[in-house]
Amino acid sequence: MSDSWVLDVPGGCFSNRGGVLHVDDVSVPDLVGRFGSPLYVMSENRIRHNFKRLHGAFSRLTPFRLYYAVKANTNLAVLGVLRQEGAFADCSCPAEIYEASLAGFGPEKILYTGNYNSTEEVRYAQAAGVTINFDDAALLGKLEGGRVPETVCFRINPGMAKGGKEGLIFAGPDAKFGSPEEVAARGYAEAKKLGAKRFGIHMMTGSNVLDPKYFPAATSALMDIAGRISKKVGMEFEFVNVGGGFGVPYSPKERELPIEGVASSVVEAFRQKVEQYGMSRPLLAAEPGRFLVADSAVLASTVCHVKSSSKTFVGVDAGMNTLLRPALYNAYHPVLVANRLGERDDQVANICGQVCENTDVLARDRGLPRVKEGDIIAIFNAGAYGFAMSSQYNNRPRAAEVLVNGSDAQVIRRREGFSDLVQGVSVPARLLT
Ligand code: LLP
Repeated sequence: MSDSWVLDVPGGCFSNRGGVLHVDDVSVPDLVGRFGSPLYVMSENRIRHNFKRLHGAFSRLTPFRLYYAVKANTNLAVLGVLRQEGAFADCSCPAEIYEASLAGFGPEKILYTGNYNSTEEVRYAQAAGVTINFDDAALLGKLEGGRVPETVCFRINPGMAKGGKEGLIFAGPDAKFGSPEEVAARGYAEAKKLGAKRFGIHMMTGSNVLDPKYFPAATSALMDIAGRISKKVGMEFEFVNVGGGFGVPYSPKERELPIEGVASSVVEAFRQKVEQYGMSRPLLAAEPGRFLVADSAVLASTVCHVKSSSKTFVGVDAGMNTLLRPALYNAYHPVLVANRLGERDDQVANICGQVCENTDVLARDRGLPRVKEGDIIAIFNAGAYGFAMSSQYNNRPRAAEVLVNGSDAQVIRRREGFSDLVQGVSVPARLLT
């Protein structure tokens, strides 16, 4: 099945103009000519569109706060776009707090959701004045001087979970994340005793979920826990954060998550439980990463060599070092030949990178036109967990990133060179002779 469906996504940023892939008004092969290959190309407008759509779906129904899960794409320009739209930032580590602060998010807009945090990490967040989302009650003991922040939030493991892939399930009996209800209840009681005044509750149970029914079910489960804890401990929740996990279609077989319907059903479940437990109307929050940025970017790469052997292998200058998801999760990413759109697919090929691992395959058994060296392969849905999970493995300098807005294209991260591969390395003098 062809992947040309990515060009027909409503409100999408990709189009076929004369057989050439464009992001907004800019030709992808031209960008590769200007900025080199491989190249992440992002559309600012698509990020804004995704934010407005998700935020609008919830906020027309209830007071709502949208955190952006910074880990999905940490580029400061991307953070700037989302800050301008009104996002808050969900940070998983001190470095992300640092990056969000650099991008202009004030501490009142940052939530720190770590896990297995060291004392230093807890204290970094405490000193930065951000809201800490504790993964375990015992973490309160790591606070500087026993001083508990005014606002305390716990990440709950509600026992239920769902993920688009096995590796994307973050709750349930085997998960390393979150606290069971009794542990969190102890944590809230302790925090209250130590002087905490405001409380939040949080879950993040899985990623890339495309089942719309899952979200209201998980919200109900979290709200039952919130309702019971609030009665038991004698406190009110100011906010309830239902996490991220909103999926996007990667393969032509997957259906888009009807986000407006998801928002309605989540808000309905939320309201019903607010009433059932007589809660004083907490603020609803969510913290997606993927939904906001995944389909805003394409990874452009250049065909280096085509080999016909047991099957056809199309080798490109991107690989598992540039986009890890196919190798790590066997994830499907749509692929088109950016300079030959609309040509007939007359071969089936594997598209692979140049890394010395046999898992370095970006796409398997895909229909392609008969490509040759120099053609540009575009790999779609590369905006979330793309650059963020890239590495220098096999001594491949990392790709550049470009942000497109209409006909404007600017480098938002320069391409690495060989010198970046030895940055920070030092050699003892005895080895220099
Ligand atoms: N909140 C927390 C605490 C998280 O750990 C995550 C993602 C999110 C929010 C955002 O989840 P999203 O809305 O993007 O599903 N590397 C994987 C995804 C791992 C997600 C990790 N946590 C991938 O490439 O699919």
